[in-house]
Amino acid sequence: MATAPVLPAKPHLVGRDFLRLADVTAREVLQLVHLAHQMKQRRWASRLDPLAGMTVALIFEKPSTRTRVSFAVAVQQLGGLPLELSSQTLQLSRSETLADTGRVLSRYVDAIVLRTGAQAVLEELADAASVPVVNALSDQYHPCQALADLLTLAEHFGEVAGLPVAYVGDGSNMAAAWLEAAALVGLDLRLATPAGYAPDAALAEWASAAARSQGGRVTLTTDPTAAVAGVRAVYTDVWVSMGQEADAAARRAAFEGFQVTPALMEGAAPDAIFMHCLPAHRGEEVSAAVLDGPRSVVWDQAENRLHTEKALLASLLTPDFSLLECR
Ligand code: CP
Ligand code: NVA
Repeated sequence: MATAPVLPAKPHLVGRDFLRLADVTAREVLQLVHLAHQMKQRRWASRLDPLAGMTVALIFEKPSTRTRVSFAVAVQQLGGLPLELSSQTLQLSRSETLADTGRVLSRYVDAIVLRTGAQAVLEELADAASVPVVNALSDQYHPCQALADLLTLAEHFGEVAGLPVAYVGDGSNMAAAWLEAAALVGLDLRLATPAGYAPDAALAEWASAAARSQGGRVTLTTDPTAAVAGVRAVYTDVWVSMGQEADAAARRAAFEGFQVTPALMEGAAPDAIFMHCLPAHRGEEVSAAVLDGPRSVVWDQAENRLHTEKALLASLLTPDFSLLECR
């Protein structure tokens, strides 16, 4: 990240929720990425323990490997206590409302990280809770993955504004996260989905206008080859997201021709990278040759979840957190 912008030290995020990427401003996104980069470079003194004495509740209503482990490790590395809770063992499973659960948890913990289905569930929790609520993935958005992906792009290309990026596949929560990223930092996002699997039209329209105002643009297409032409990064996500298992066969049929293969990558820029939020399904949305090939940065993306979540939590929870201790 040789050309990382010089930014004020402290994102002003204290006490806020992070339910979607657009909950923070363009400047704040870049600040978070910058802070995460500094943490990753160990130019940040971990002895500060910004979460010392704090507890973060982690509630996962869907499976997770990266998000669950990276958040738990992030809290621990910041000096706090990660408290993993299963909705099955909370009174939620016996019909206590989510709002009441949020009110009660707010009396014990300093933040709540939730992976769930509908975005409205996160909003309901955030309305009731008096502590910050973080979206660890919903059916609609995956903002923590977007933060890690922006750090990964910045590490490879320095400046992300105006960067041409192709997203190929399902108009999933990850496609929505990329639309928000394009809107905030002004990416040149080309998003290719089969007909009927495009992202939410209103979100795409908003992202397109916002991206233009930041010097970027959003192009929707049904042609993967057109989408990847000359781009610096090609991104894909699973064809069958969590909760869509009943539609798996129809989805696999609809997405034929949308696999990211070496031939498709040939159309991208010579230095183009391949990105995937993981978990991946080799032979479905991506061929093994691409996922395991030299252009793939998927393991860096996974690692960057930890660094961006540390930056996010420190910024949400520590009023006097500053980078003055950065070396
Ligand atoms: N990318 C991601 O969110 O992975 P998990 O589902 O394993 O958390
Ligand atoms: N779209 C995928 C992302 C997994 C990280 C899902 O929701 O299952």
